[in-house]
Formats: sequence, structure tokens, C-alpha cells
Amino acid sequence: MKTLIAYFTMGGRTKKTAKAIANSLTNYEVTFFLIELTGKFIEKIKMLDKYENGDFSAIETELNALDVKDYDLIIIGMPTYGSKPPNAFNEIISRMKNLSGKRAIVFTTARFSGGKALEYMKTKIEEVGAQVVNKAKFRRLFYLGVKKSSKFGKEINEG
Ligand SMILES: Cc1cc2nc3c(=O)[nH]c(=O)nc-3n(C[C@H](O)[C@H](O)[C@H](O)COP(=O)(O)O)c2cc1C
Repeated sequence: MKTLIAYFTMGGRTKKTAKAIANSLTNYEVTFFLIELTGKFIEKIKMLDKYENGDFSAIETELNALDVKDYDLIIIGMPTYGSKPPNAFNEIISRMKNLSGKRAIVFTTARFSGGKALEYMKTKIEEVGAQVVNKAKFRRLFYLGVKKSSKFGKEINEG
């Protein structure tokens, strides 16, 4: 079976979580689609600002190639920004070809809450015709370990 894990990360916590989930998916061939903000803090903020304002020109090629036709499962992971995922989430799901009819899983990382972000993601994905079969929130104010995400990965792996 094949799975695509699409995630966005600015501070690395969602990336770490996505990798921990992936490491547990021994029954799957895993491919990543990542939007990772890099560089100095100010550079990250500038990039985030562009994305939040709908300017995805920097990753247009990657977004254009985003097609999930060959995947059995789509996993989307996002940080929680103001109780929602970043705008990159909307862009990813609107640009993802053949998402309709697929099985999907969503997760979010957060410091305080994150519940609303998950519901938002589930609703939006279902609007484009995919089925959200599982969801998880990984919340820690400071250090976010991988115990829970590895366990979640195992749960997915065993289907
Ligand atoms: C602009 C911004 C807004 C945030 N808003 C929230 C929030 O509403 N609720 C929350 O629990 N955490 C919030 N956080 C914390 C992030 O969700 C959390 O640190 C997340 O794990 C970051 O993921 P990343 O390291 O992959 O970028 C916010 C962080 C930033 C930078």
C-alpha cells in the first residue's frame, strides 16, 4: 500500500510528528509532500505571510505536480495557527489532484489546543469528497515527543 504524507512545518514539530508516524507505517510505502519554512526567523515569517496571503508562487511547481492518484491513503499534518491550520492547508487540498474518493487522515500539532483545527481540516477534506477515517491532535506546550505519534502510526499501520 502507498501513502502520501503531506505536511507543513515552520518550527519542526509537525515534521518530527510526521516522521514518527511514517516510521510506524511498515505496511506502507511512504512518500512525503512537505512545505517547510526555512532560514532565519524573519525569513520564515515573511514566507508565512506570503502563504497566508495566498501567494504560493515559490512552490508553484511542486503544487502543480501534486497528484494522489496512486495512493491508498493520504495523511495531512498541520500546525495549529489561531485555532486553524495555516492557509497552506487550503492550498494543498485545492491543488491535490484525485483526492476525491480517497481515504484520508488528518493530524495537527499545537501548544495549547488544536481541536478546532482538526475539525476544520476534516470538514474541508470531506467537502472535496475524501473520507476522513482517523484524526489526531498532538499537543504539548514545550517539548513535543514522539511517543503518541509513533503509537498513532502503529494504529494506522494495523488499519
Ligand atoms: C502564528 C502562530 C499561531 C499559533 N496559534 C496556536 C493556537 O491557536 N493554538 C495552539 O495550541 N498553538 C498555536 N501555535 C503553536 C503551534 O501550533 C505549535 O507550536 C505547532 O506545533 C508548530 O508546529 P511546527 O513546529 O511544525 O511549525 C501557534 C504558533 C504560531 C507560530
